[in-house]
Amino acid sequence: MRRDGSRQAEFVVVGSGVAGLRAAIGLAEALERVLLLTKDTPTDSNTDRAQGGVAVVLSDEDEVGLHFEDTLRAGAGLSEESAARTLVEDGARAILELIEWGAEFDRQGIQLAFGREAAHSARRVLHAGGDATGREIVRVLLAKASMFPSLRILSGCIAQDLWIESGSCRGVHYLDEAAGETRTAAAAGVLLATGGAGRVYRENTNPPQATGDGIAMAWLAGAELMDMEFVQFHPTALAVPGEPRWLLTEALRGEGGVLRTLSGRRFMPQYHGDGDLAPRDVVSRSIAQEIARSGDDHVLLDLGHLDAAFLRRRFPGIDALCTRCGLDFTRDPIPVLPAAHYFMGGVRTDLLGRSSVPGLYAAGETACTGVHGANRLASNSLLEGLVFGARVSTAMLVDLGRAAGEPGPPPDPEPFFAEDGAAAVAERVAVEASERLGVIRNGGGLDRARAVLEGFSAGCVASSASRDGIEARNRWIVARAVTEAATWRTESRGAHFRSDHPEVDDRNFRVHSVQRLGSGVAAVPAGEGPLPLSESE
Ligand code: FUM
Repeated sequence: MRRDGSRQAEFVVVGSGVAGLRAAIGLAEALERVLLLTKDTPTDSNTDRAQGGVAVVLSDEDEVGLHFEDTLRAGAGLSEESAARTLVEDGARAILELIEWGAEFDRQGIQLAFGREAAHSARRVLHAGGDATGREIVRVLLAKASMFPSLRILSGCIAQDLWIESGSCRGVHYLDEAAGETRTAAAAGVLLATGGAGRVYRENTNPPQATGDGIAMAWLAGAELMDMEFVQFHPTALAVPGEPRWLLTEALRGEGGVLRTLSGRRFMPQYHGDGDLAPRDVVSRSIAQEIARSGDDHVLLDLGHLDAAFLRRRFPGIDALCTRCGLDFTRDPIPVLPAAHYFMGGVRTDLLGRSSVPGLYAAGETACTGVHGANRLASNSLLEGLVFGARVSTAMLVDLGRAAGEPGPPPDPEPFFAEDGAAAVAERVAVEASERLGVIRNGGGLDRARAVLEGFSAGCVASSASRDGIEARNRWIVARAVTEAATWRTESRGAHFRSDHPEVDDRNFRVHSVQRLGSGVAAVPAGEGPLPLSESE
């Protein structure tokens, strides 16, 4: 490990999804040494897998005010208006910039084609390559990033711990997997853009990289986490034995797909006036109830009444996936079930991505500004990554001049799970999360999850760094944070549903949960969720 504290970069960005790449571009435009760490290759991210699209108001038939209202409605009383307004107002500029950089969104003739997704009052979801929107965004951002010699991207590097000195973030320890060595990058600050934590759950739509690394590292560094109980479950993950729970985009229902029980009965109209296009949390809970009632382990997504040629053209990726699984998605009902998809909670930041620890920033799914409240509106997350990724880079540039001087020698990294126990820990966490922190929760299950997860503390021992060990620790920390917040919130709101407290309790719980290492869950009133901006903004 490098033992001196000299800066190897002005800033380190951890993560190569939309938020990390967009922020890195903003930094690299202005600075000389920006380092981006990515766990595998730069295209291995949740962003790259995003299908449905990116919500933005660019059509004459739409209004920013409607997108704002839809975002708030989905957020179930907890969306921060300031954050939502920033998202929808900055959204068009962010997308036009991406188009200028070469992004090719699907068009009808020369006009951009807007898709429909649940809980949107207008067709406003841009898509690319039919159902490969994230891939196109990553392609364009990586091409843009490659134009800056000041940006160095290190693949195969797993961020391990933040280096905190005198209360400020001074860099990051990371495992260089190929070299088998832990290294330290000193910097004026670190941006966590590691995406979400879907892999905490057994049933999830996320890539293997999504183990909550940024959230866990921030927590260990003493930063505040907000709204960790709000985990969004996507209603339609592929439920074919032996296959990962691949996402089947909501746009399939936007184009007319319907859910049925195995006996062929349509059920969504009985649960919600918007039927199959009800908000995600409602659809996921309805499926869970149907599954509990029938004893089946999945339901069916039926597209058989739609035009097959249109479906193949519009969803080429899903066509290929289903074909590989022996299904013709234009004819055969597809087995689906809900799976963990997106974390609304994360590292509490201000609207410029600053966390509660000086020098530590977060953006995208890792961060929580309160923009999504208790439930994210479909296709708002790519937009969030672009908008808040750009914003955090401007804040970091402002802060650079104020950053403290060279730090002393870095401390040793935090202890973590020993390698040989890591797989067992990860597996046990996934079982607890899926069975007790899932679509429907209750107090007894949460108590049980807490007892099981606390039992692992004894197994948290120092050892040489390994990816499995670091990831197991991070999954465990995230699962504990979800458990604490979900136990504390004795009501049901948005994506958090407790069968023992099925009602919304606005009197006591129109508040965000905030937690930090060494203290319990505290309430922050809605409206005060994002950290206040500093005086100079
Ligand atoms: O269904 C989807 O394509 C997912 C979109 C999203 O998570 O925003």
